[in-house]
This record gives sequence, C-alpha cells and structure tokens, in this order.
Amino acid sequence: MQQIDVVVLGAGASGMMCAATAGQMGRQVVLIDHAERLAEKIRISGGGRCNFTNLYVRPECFLSANPHFCKSALKQYTQHDFMALMQKHGLSWTEKTLGQLFCDQGSDAVIALLKAEADAVGVLWRMATQVFDVEAHPDGGFIVRTSRENWHCQSLVVATGGLSIPQIGATGIGLDIAKQFGLQLIPTAAALVPLTFQPADLWGELAGIALEHSAASTADITFREAMLLTHKGVSGPAILQISSYWQPGQAIVIDMLPGLDDEAIFPHAGRDKSVLNLLAEHLPRRLAQAILGDEVRPLKQLAPKEVAALLQRLHHWEFIPSGTQGYRKAEVMRGGVDTNELSSKTMMARKVPGLFFIGEVVDVTGWLGGYNFQWAWSSGYVAGMNA
Ligand code: FDA
Repeated sequence: MQQIDVVVLGAGASGMMCAATAGQMGRQVVLIDHAERLAEKIRISGGGRCNFTNLYVRPECFLSANPHFCKSALKQYTQHDFMALMQKHGLSWTEKTLGQLFCDQGSDAVIALLKAEADAVGVLWRMATQVFDVEAHPDGGFIVRTSRENWHCQSLVVATGGLSIPQIGATGIGLDIAKQFGLQLIPTAAALVPLTFQPADLWGELAGIALEHSAASTADITFREAMLLTHKGVSGPAILQISSYWQPGQAIVIDMLPGLDDEAIFPHAGRDKSVLNLLAEHLPRRLAQAILGDEVRPLKQLAPKEVAALLQRLHHWEFIPSGTQGYRKAEVMRGGVDTNELSSKTMMARKVPGLFFIGEVVDVTGWLGGYNFQWAWSSGYVAGMNA
C-alpha cells in the first residue's frame, strides 16, 4: 500500500486544477484516471478552442437545488484568476459573444497549462488506470484500489465529472462513491442538449434552418440566442440553454422574431407586398413558407385578426418536446451530489471528513458559455486549498 496525502480521481478540468492547487499547498498528490489521454472534454470543448470561462460569471448562471451554494467557490477563484493563469503561461483569448472567452492557442494549450502547473509541484500521474474501489481506512483516511497499486490517502477528491459523452470515458463512478458514503443525490439528467420532436419526420424538411435571433422560454426563464431546426427536433444555443431547465412534459415557447414589433414585421409601407416576402425579410424563406402554408395574399388583404393570429404564431410557437438527445449528445449532466452534503467553502462532505466532490459530479450546472469550466476551476481550486 502506497501512502500519499491526496488522491484525486479524474484528471479532467476540476481534477487537474485541484491537484495543482493541493501540490502548491505542499501536499503530495496522485491524479488517477482510467482514460489514456488527459482531459478529453477540455480537448473537444468549444470546437477545439475551449470556451474556458465567461467575463460575466455570476451565481444566477448556475442551476442547483441550492442556488447559493456556488457563490463561495466562484468568489474564492474567479474568472479573472483563470485569465491571469492563462497570461502567466503566455496564452491569449478572444471574446466571441456574450462574454464567452475562447483560447486563441486552442484546447490543447489549456490542457498543457494545467499539466504544467501540476508537474511544477510534483503531482504524480496515473493515466489508463482502473479504479476498482474506495473505502474508508479504519485508521482514518481512505483506501483507493486501482489496477496499478493501492493507495492510502488522507484526502480523497472525486473529480470524475458527469455522465455526458460516455463514448469518451464518462462514468457514474463519482455518483456511486457518493452513494457508498451515504450522501444524497439530486436526480441527474442530460443538460445543454438538443430537444427532440415526435414524429421526427414531420420536421425533416425544415432541417438545417437556422434562426440567428430567437428567444426560447420555459416557465420562468428565457434565452435569446440562435437556434437550429434539425432532423430530430431543435438545437442551437438558445435550445441547449433552455434544455437545462426543461422538465419532461413541459412546453417550450419560441419567439422567432424577438424584439421586433408589429410595425417592423408588417410595416404599413409594405401593405402591397405578400406576407411571404415581408416575412422572408426576417426569417429564412423556407421557414416563412412552412409557417404560411398556402397563404399568398398581399398584407393589405389580411383582416386585422388574421395578422394578429400570424404575429402570435411568430412570437409564440409553443410545443412540447418528446425528449432530449440524451447523454450521448449532451454537453453536461445536471443534478449530482446534493450540495447540502458539502461545505460550500471547502467542497468537503460534511459527514465524511477528508472526502471532497468537485466539478460536474456536484449538483451545480452552468449555462452554456464557459460557465461549466469556471465551476470546475473554482471548485477544484477550493478543494485543492483544503484537501
Ligand atoms: P471532466 O469530464 O473534465 O473530467 C472527468 C475525468 O474523470 C475524465 O478525465 C474521465 O476520464 C475521468 N473518469 C471518469 N470516470 C472514471 C473512472 N471510472 N475511473 C477513473 N477516471 C474516471 N464547458 C465550458 O465551460 N466551455 C466549453 O466550451 C465546453 N464545451 C464542451 C463541449 C463538449 C462536447 C462537452 C461534452 C462538454 C463541454 N463543456 C464545456 C463542459 C465541460 O467539459 C465540463 O463541464 C467539465 O469538463 C467538467 O469538469 P470535471 O472535472 O467535472 O469533469
């Protein structure tokens, strides 16, 4: 049995941040991961350019049964702290939209940064290593049995991420460890995920149509971003965002022309034009045609209540999705280890001293746009300071 201060399970975003931070605190750390390669999710993130944080990180951009839980970690390690770390490593970024920062040197550079930080403080790496089981050691601390060696550690940090994209190594081990130690879980579901319609073929002919501006709403939240019609349903940023809030059976409302008033859509000066031509000034023609069906009249021939009904359809397209495309297509998992079980200041389990949970396995889910990585950095840092 090897003795070590800290075992971190999962060499992804939060695990590497945690290991480097704990090493800087003078702790001896081993990072264990079953994957061959480090941090596959960072590698594929942001289309290979890693949307590593957001300028406007704030607690309201995170879903959790306890919306206050994320505040402490986000304050202890902010987006500006990670930007400073990027600068220290000579990395630069570009803001794409809505405060989303992408690494100019690509995702691999972010992985190399985290690896360099961990290497600088002597973190041990155990990649391609199966974790067989973990248990409390009778003399304190934990035993971690792996395909290479067994470890006895004082602190065990679970950073094994969520269930999305099982094809690159996501597993439920973090949830299983939480259950094993008697911690409550908040039910999990795919989030930041395309929504589906039944029957899918009804939508097939509209597949590929993009709306640059749309507003997607459920009961109490609206996202104004682009959306896309697909062969299976709807996707694109506005839909991914709303999917995190959507519950099965609930309706989604789409405003296809958000912010445009009646006169902007059907101007008095356009009375002689066909409604199709007027709509096609704001929407892809194929979509306008699908909405209007056989309607070919000029605007002036439509009765006011017909115009009103049309405007209602454009601003209030309501449907109930049949489901989501699931974990295979989801960017993240929502739900996870109940935050009531953890200290928000340290990420340590209240009833199991020395056991920490960080990153996506915890019931804190960020919006699309760099928020999930910021949660990984912040929660990883906090656990690293305390493990
Ligand atoms: P993460 O998934 O990073 O790491 C978990 C690690 O645990 C992995 O290395 C895995 O191999 C390991 N592991 C799992 N099971 C194990 C087991 N049984 N034994 C040993 N090791 C195990 N977010 C964002 O903010 N900006 C973005 O641009 C994107 N883009 C993006 C694209 C795509 C396609 C996806 C799927 C996700 C994103 N995300 C994102 C989300 C982001 O990648 C995610 O929230 C973080 O990586 C979560 O960090 P964690 O450290 O919690 O898990």
